[in-house]
Amino acid sequence: MHKFSYRGGRLFCEGVDLGRLAEETGTPAYVYSAGTLLENYRRLEAAFSSLDHRVCYAIKANSNLAVLDLLARAGSGFDIVSGGELFRVLAAGGSPARTTFAGVGKSVAEIETALRAGIYSLNVESETELERIEAVAARLGLEAPVAIRVNPDVDAGTHAFISTGRSLNKFGIGLDRAGEVYRRAANCRHLKLRGIQTHIGSQILETRPFVEAIEKLLPLVRALKREYQIEFFSIGGGMGIVYEQALASGHADWWTQPATTPRLDPETYAAALLPLLEPLGLKILLEPGRSLVGNAGALLATVEYVKQAPGKTFVIVDTAMNDLIRPALYDGWHEIVPLQEPASDARLAVDVVGPVCESGDFIAKDRKLPPLKAGDRLAILSTGAYGSSMASNYNSRPLAPEILVHGDTHRVVRQRQTLHDLIASESEPAR
Ligand code: LLP
Repeated sequence: MHKFSYRGGRLFCEGVDLGRLAEETGTPAYVYSAGTLLENYRRLEAAFSSLDHRVCYAIKANSNLAVLDLLARAGSGFDIVSGGELFRVLAAGGSPARTTFAGVGKSVAEIETALRAGIYSLNVESETELERIEAVAARLGLEAPVAIRVNPDVDAGTHAFISTGRSLNKFGIGLDRAGEVYRRAANCRHLKLRGIQTHIGSQILETRPFVEAIEKLLPLVRALKREYQIEFFSIGGGMGIVYEQALASGHADWWTQPATTPRLDPETYAAALLPLLEPLGLKILLEPGRSLVGNAGALLATVEYVKQAPGKTFVIVDTAMNDLIRPALYDGWHEIVPLQEPASDARLAVDVVGPVCESGDFIAKDRKLPPLKAGDRLAILSTGAYGSSMASNYNSRPLAPEILVHGDTHRVVRQRQTLHDLIASESEPAR
């Protein structure tokens, strides 16, 4: 679901003409649709309404304060993986009591800050981490709420870099060891066993791996509830989105999805999981990232040059792997559409590349696009998740601005970085 469509041949995000917005703010620029984000959140909420549950948005997907603020106001909790993300949740007015803290490498300082803030749960990934949390909690004279992340050894069938639920991944504690680790933890005076967590991977488009993981964990979950009165079971995130976007258009149907495009909507996801989860009588936590924000974002770009090489046409744009690393890192596929709807059906296979000095710097390869020329504006769709949050200053390129659209209005929610911002925290060479 998203609110990007052509109106009168011009691409709109909700009620905002993106061509005009690009004129005003320049490119590259990220644009987010608040309406899309909130609708995605509400649909997921509604799908799980029969359960005692809480959505803890995984803020790594998009950690802009305005996005966090929207979700916090809608009632969302948060899932974080660093002290930096905790700082953002607090800055956005989010509640630590509705926040879980995941990640394999929590530092002493991060654990201490999270405990002092009143975090709902530290999701523990190893026995040594458990010992560290016990030591920090003892020093602070606190009881640390913990859940253990259990790795069910399930193949999520997704890209190797974003698959996390196999025993060969670095995440969680194996099902064979989990019972023993809980027993040890139960004997620690400064730990409170609050729940159990799992997360098997990202961009998963079928229910099977989720069902398989939960089924494997159910006996343990029931035993933990009985023995330690745990209160929650977090089933992680991972719901995939459709990247091959259909754009509603008054003119052409060039961007329609094939009927076979795999998709997983919140209702299908819930229908598969509710029968397994309802009998548990536990609070169920969900940690969606991509499925809430992915389709809510687009990256606006301008064509700088069209370069003909032997047997290849390169469309060189003003955005690059530093703004959007997904194509380079995961072979991520993002729909690219012109802001001005083309008048003819002509298509040309081109590589869309950025100015960064790496052959890996591409946005799309062998993509059939309408004929393009310098100055044409494009939108790279479904870049709301793992776009700006993975951006860098590589090649000393300032970070792109972020703009939040709500109905007919828009607001810059992160300014474009200036060249001074690039060097502000560096010391000038002594002369
Ligand atoms: N919970 C935990 C513990 C996670 O590690 C993740 C994502 C999530 C929740 C949220 O998963 P989601 O609902 O967004 O799939 N950068 C990659 C994705 C990395 C996902 C890492 N963990 C990409 O651009 O595809």
